[in-house]
Amino acid sequence: MKENPKHVAIIMDGNGRWAKKRMLPRNYGHKQGSENLRKLSFYIFDQGIEVLSVFCFSTENFSRPSDEVNYLMNLFVEKFHSEFEEYKKKNIKVVFSGRRENLRPDVLEAMDKITEETKNNTRAILNLCLNYGGQYELIDAMKKIIKEKKEIDSLTPEELMHYFYQDLPPIDFLIRTSGEYRLSNFMLYQSSYAELYFPETYFPDFDEREFDKALDIYHHRDRRFGSIKEK
Ligand code: IPE
Ligand code: IPE
Ligand code: MG
Repeated sequence: MKENPKHVAIIMDGNGRWAKKRMLPRNYGHKQGSENLRKLSFYIFDQGIEVLSVFCFSTENFSRPSDEVNYLMNLFVEKFHSEFEEYKKKNIKVVFSGRRENLRPDVLEAMDKITEETKNNTRAILNLCLNYGGQYELIDAMKKIIKEKKEIDSLTPEELMHYFYQDLPPIDFLIRTSGEYRLSNFMLYQSSYAELYFPETYFPDFDEREFDKALDIYHHRDRRFGSIKEK
């Protein structure tokens, strides 16, 4: 039996197209997507995955029409307030990656609440990437390194990861739904040796069965990390 990935990441894409296919407003797709994440995340943690990172909102998503941005921000506030009890009960620690600037005070407040309420949980980590951009994360890490006057000559690739928004292990398995084959500025450094999987399914339909299929595909991959390994 092959080992499960320790850190799974999902670029949750295709909410808008899921809604469009049903002649529904894009925002309805976001609502369905967020409901799917709630269920799917618990299922993923039940499989023994230790860390799940999900792309909720990119720094670039602020360029969308303001009614969609507002809808998403309202949805985050509503979800963080209504779901923290469940994450707390299930012993899941919720953390955030991304820049706090440009986020509304009520969004920051809801983020701080769910973080605080779940901070002592130990079973697994849900890393919500909100107002997140991989390039900004590298810039912000460099700023921290300079501020702390860290000796740069001895810096190792592993050590650099301690300066990111969250100190998490590298990504083993990265899934992007909806048939788009790009990273869109998501965890570029942490994905260096991740196995990549691009299912066609739109995120609101990416359910437990789809995840089982994904995990099976992962287990058939041959991770070599640059060396030669017999299968
Ligand atoms: C992903 O779904 C969710 C966010 C980016 C917030 P999209 O909104 O990108 O859906 P599509 O790609 O337009 O279908
Ligand atoms: C990436 O999806 C961001 C999230 C899933 C939150 P986008 O839909 O914004 O990415 P592009 O614009 O297609 O690259
Ligand atoms: Mg998209």
